[in-house]
Amino acid sequence: MGKKCLITSALLYVNGTPHLGHVIGCLLPADVCARFKRLQGDEVLFIGGTDEHGTASEFGALKAGLPVEVYCEQNHMMHRKLYEGLNLSMDYCGRTSSKQNQEIVYRIFSALDKNGYITEKTIEQVYSIDDQQFLADRYIVGTCPYCGYENARGDQCEHCTKVLDPTELKNARSAISGSSHLEVRKTKHLFLDLPKLQSLIEKWVKTREFMWPDLSYTIAQKWLKEGLKERCITRDLKWGFPVNKPGYEDKVFYVWFDAPIGYIGITKQWSDEDPEHRHWEDWWLKPDDVTYIEFMGKDNVPFHSVSFPGTLMGTGEPWTLVSQLKGVSYLNFNGGKFSKSAGRGVFLDDALKEFPADYWRYWMMANMPETSDVNFKFDAFAGQINKDLNDVLGNFVNRVMKMTQSNFGLVVPEGGALTDEEKQLYATLADLISKYTQYMNDLEWRKALATLREIWVEGNNYIARTEPWKVAKTDKQRAACILRTGLNLIRIEAILLSPIMPTFAKEILSLLKLPEPTGWVNAQDINKEMSYLAPNTELGEPRLIFSKITPEMVTSLSEKYHENDVKE
Ligand code: MF3
Ligand code: ZN
Repeated sequence: MGKKCLITSALLYVNGTPHLGHVIGCLLPADVCARFKRLQGDEVLFIGGTDEHGTASEFGALKAGLPVEVYCEQNHMMHRKLYEGLNLSMDYCGRTSSKQNQEIVYRIFSALDKNGYITEKTIEQVYSIDDQQFLADRYIVGTCPYCGYENARGDQCEHCTKVLDPTELKNARSAISGSSHLEVRKTKHLFLDLPKLQSLIEKWVKTREFMWPDLSYTIAQKWLKEGLKERCITRDLKWGFPVNKPGYEDKVFYVWFDAPIGYIGITKQWSDEDPEHRHWEDWWLKPDDVTYIEFMGKDNVPFHSVSFPGTLMGTGEPWTLVSQLKGVSYLNFNGGKFSKSAGRGVFLDDALKEFPADYWRYWMMANMPETSDVNFKFDAFAGQINKDLNDVLGNFVNRVMKMTQSNFGLVVPEGGALTDEEKQLYATLADLISKYTQYMNDLEWRKALATLREIWVEGNNYIARTEPWKVAKTDKQRAACILRTGLNLIRIEAILLSPIMPTFAKEILSLLKLPEPTGWVNAQDINKEMSYLAPNTELGEPRLIFSKITPEMVTSLSEKYHENDVKE
């Protein structure tokens, strides 16, 4: 086995259905990376799951009329099914509410407390006398002071989108019981002393300067420059891990404290299923053996680049800290937000019903919001699928297969020596393949995909230049050499695209009667790679792998998903 490579995708909140914007920043690139590293021979552990604690889940459960445990369980299963539909190769899809996570959270909290990184403070919070509990901001409803909307939440008015403080609401009442019998009370909470950890974090972040993509490094630097503040890590809620400190038994840990620790807890869930062969400590407490890569949206970067590493360092234990941290911007839906309640935007459940997972996977990887936000529109989506996958890649595969079949039957043709034409192609391919591999290693997705497309274009150009359909009439030997070259290139293209489009890659390889790839393409040994398919090897029946998205489909999808509704 090669190097140990730990890969995590940000854990999506369990309430709500994931949409393309959730998938693009974390789940999908994490999967592509995991598949790529496996083909490179690394020992990969790809961890994901759902983020379950806190008010969002309590609120969701309340609206659904379910006990919060049942609600989370059901939604977790829904997420899991969708991840399978998207063909994510997660080694384990776990939950932040697991008993394993509780164990790790307690262990980390106790170590932080012992080392003097936990402080106590008294703060003021709204208490509902009839509900006998403190209310989180979003559990307080009332009339918005800005627009007069009567059901504004204490954290934000859904109607005018103003961010609110619960004390600003008129006619404030509890969202749970509707009671307006509220008062402000003092309550004690625990804080993580990030200022005390600042210099330790700063030194460590510096070591990542050339390992993290710019976006992540810049965000971390900005937070550190502003100076870290103490962070409240407890809440007066029911749904969460009860705080393991005397005097705090009626409080729970804040969701953002136990969520990233969830990566470790979920690894332990995985480990506990087969304790003889799986050891979570090998991944999390032997940092020199492991490269750790994280994927997330940019709003998550501060927590992952500063707070979470600080939390781990404060324990004094040798936890694995992130090596490469990939944060990306947002995906919008025709310039606006995705909204389940407004029925606008493509959610994963619908997406998988409309097109094969690989169409979405390709489009998202090719349009990764790496430098700025990106817009989804059905016509642009269709345009790219039709051009890249049908006209360029699909056309190459199909022409080479068909010409081979009609001139030589379903075998790899024999004869014909390599000419300068092929030698030049090999050199170009070797160069492009090593660039592509480098970009994949650097998590530079747009550049990687652009290079992959260059390889496809090279294939088409080669066929256009060498004109095997004409040559076959006069010089069978030469045509044999050209088509054998084309067939070998099909194999290489299939392997190179397999992390991104695993199902289509498998289908293309099946045309060559080849199994799923087990290793990456070696650019240094292009001669060997390009003669993998020996003369007289049997081939499968040619068939079209991709199909086009028609303008009529674009129009009807655009209407169905309310693409042109007023933006928010
Ligand atoms: N649930 C958070 C979000 O969707 C992400 C949490 S990532 C974690 O924004 F690792 F901290 F869990
Ligand atoms: Zn308002």
